[in-house]
Amino acid sequence: MDAALFTEFVRRGKFENERLEQREPNSYSWTVEHMRACLDAFDGTGPIVVLANREPIRHDRAADGRIVVRRSASGLVTALEPLIESCSGVWVAHGAGTADRVVVDWRDGLDVPPANPLYRLRRVWLNEREERGYYYGFANEGLWPLCHRTHVRPVFRSEDFDAYQNVNRRFAEAVHEEVESDSPLILVQDYHFALAPQAIRAHLPLSTIVAFWHIPWPHPRDYAVCPWGRELLEGLLGSTIVGFQTPGDCENFIETVEYSLDAHIDRGRNVIAYGDRRVTVHAYPVSVEWPNRLASQSPPVETCRAVVRRQLPPDVRLAVGVDRLDYTKGINEKFLAVERLLELHSEFRERFVFVQIAEPSRECLAAYQACRSQLAQTVDRVNLRFGTDRYRPLILLEAHHEPAEVYQFLRAADVCYVGSLHDGMNLVAKEFVAARDDNQGVLVLSRFTGAARELTDALLVSPFAIDDSAQVLARALDMTPEEQASRMRAMRAVVAEFNAYRWVVEMLTDAARLRANRDLRHYHEANWRADTLPAQS
Ligand code: F6P
Repeated sequence: MDAALFTEFVRRGKFENERLEQREPNSYSWTVEHMRACLDAFDGTGPIVVLANREPIRHDRAADGRIVVRRSASGLVTALEPLIESCSGVWVAHGAGTADRVVVDWRDGLDVPPANPLYRLRRVWLNEREERGYYYGFANEGLWPLCHRTHVRPVFRSEDFDAYQNVNRRFAEAVHEEVESDSPLILVQDYHFALAPQAIRAHLPLSTIVAFWHIPWPHPRDYAVCPWGRELLEGLLGSTIVGFQTPGDCENFIETVEYSLDAHIDRGRNVIAYGDRRVTVHAYPVSVEWPNRLASQSPPVETCRAVVRRQLPPDVRLAVGVDRLDYTKGINEKFLAVERLLELHSEFRERFVFVQIAEPSRECLAAYQACRSQLAQTVDRVNLRFGTDRYRPLILLEAHHEPAEVYQFLRAADVCYVGSLHDGMNLVAKEFVAARDDNQGVLVLSRFTGAARELTDALLVSPFAIDDSAQVLARALDMTPEEQASRMRAMRAVVAEFNAYRWVVEMLTDAARLRANRDLRHYHEANWRADTLPAQS
């Protein structure tokens, strides 16, 4: 369907009747034009504002005094940057780079990219105490373990929640400063900003707010341990739509609201009525850009293999993992599976290497330090057991890698191993599929990721089951090129169809429809009042 027809489709509200789920795959190919067409429904409402903690680019002062620009590795950035670029929007984020303040204008923002501006990045500054309480404390020692089933105990401190509240308020004010109308479209991202929708609505009651929760939502019984559970829910219910990665997360959220608040729930339509608000809850699985710029700009697969494998013997099979260094990612479990593989299958000794890229993350937190030292111990032990002078089966690269380098690894690998113990989506799985335009490579994927619902042609594993994971790895390494191609083609068809544009289009279409309904309701209410009021003389 072309973009003009699509605009008409959205405008006339037909989209709702023809829910995408009921259609055959490949009936649409979702492009940036469809996304732009959707944005037409928000004409005259000023720039779209994305509120997300992590900035898409940061500026740091290098040791030699130069300012260096670093791109964020976050999946959230991958999914949202195409949108914000195509509509000249504003991205509001924490200015965390050591040279971030040096490059901003008088309104604490900058054009990105500076030479050919596509969008505005507005930076919000946090002092050390605020960052400690809001980001490290409440968001990452409280909410992160609360929402991920990895048996790490959440830590809740009152002073952290105070900081979280204050910082959410401050970001809401920054959003308010950036909008140019009284009914803007605002996309609030993730668990850092549960309170922001309510705070934004206090300033801008007519705004359309879509809050998207990128990580899992816990079962209501688990959520109940959070001392400020009610406040968080009320904050999120300031939104027009609350989006999640999977229908299971929506179900958990709705049940949590039912259990915690005096709300009315329309189960058929997934609408929560709370106070004078109606809030829609819906699953929108996040995805990657397709066609994928990073894949098309990468060197040919053969060149990537030559570069990445330059220090490996030619007959060595290569598996890669790409994660933040985080206990939810199951990196240690992957190492244990490799150890078991080498125990059970001697044919892979000196013939198999697993390279794990682990971007340092939240390093000051105890759980992350423990995870890091456990990884170091496992790597040493396994390499001592199975390594030689010239061979190490496990290579741990603890460093930030630019997206282009990550794609080189993904294109060079025989196997990509995604082993999260629990994950909202895991975009690395989809990036691997996007990177493999040669239709080769095997994806070994944890069944506890959102991605496992869509990428059913991956080899699915339970990362907790080390023996099984080892056998699945062996199967991946033995897979024929024909089977690899058939599985990869099927997964590429899924990612092509359910790409990042579709993620945005579905959210914006629903937001446009709800906004139109609201305007219609206001129009009828105003007319009804005009009809019933005595005529003015
Ligand atoms: O998984 C959700 C998510 O927000 C990702 O988008 C992001 O990579 C991560 O969590 C947050 O990482 P950080 O704390 O480094 O911003």
